[in-house]
Amino acid sequence: MGSHHSARAGSDVWLTPPGVVTALGAFDLDPCAAEPRPWDTARRHIAPPDDGLAATWEGRVFLNPPYSNLTDWLGKLADHGRGTALIFARTETRWFVDLVWQRASAVMFLHGRLHFHLPDGSRARGNAGAPSCLVAYGDGDALRLAGSGLAGTFVNLGNSSLEAA
Ligand SMILES: C[S@@+](CC[C@H](N)C(=O)[O-])C[C@H]1O[C@@H](n2cnc3c(N)ncnc32)[C@H](O)[C@@H]1O
Repeated sequence: MGSHHSARAGSDVWLTPPGVVTALGAFDLDPCAAEPRPWDTARRHIAPPDDGLAATWEGRVFLNPPYSNLTDWLGKLADHGRGTALIFARTETRWFVDLVWQRASAVMFLHGRLHFHLPDGSRARGNAGAPSCLVAYGDGDALRLAGSGLAGTFVNLGNSSLEAA
């Protein structure tokens, strides 16, 4: 969506189940946060009308990106090198090959289907409709993911990320 996000932001507002975020430990930044939101996902949040894609990212990033320009968001996290993304496990796609298989440190394929949450905090009635995975960039995030206790299968990819500050 880039700079054209405001009118359509509502269609992208599917919140991460809170137990998934807390299992991964504390994050410094959620660059695509919901506003208003029922709970915090990081120490600092960027939400529309501010543009988290254009912002400077610092520290450990949690990313559940808008799908309308997923590759831009995930590419920025791969370049940043420190953080964890929640995305659909579309393992065959060009973006998954380029940004996950070839660049991530580790992936956890979640067992079962997630139910995302709505901006008021309630759990969506239907499940996500597709399998999800958590993608770690950087050794620290890979370790956190491995030790998260979430129900999933952890795969160490061994790609090295330049750890950002
Ligand atoms: C899939 S939701 C995830 C929300 C939250 N990060 C979470 O995991 O619970 C994506 C969010 O990105 C926000 N968003 C969309 N475009 C954005 C932009 N350019 N900058 C910051 N946030 C944006 C939307 O408002 C929406 O709340």
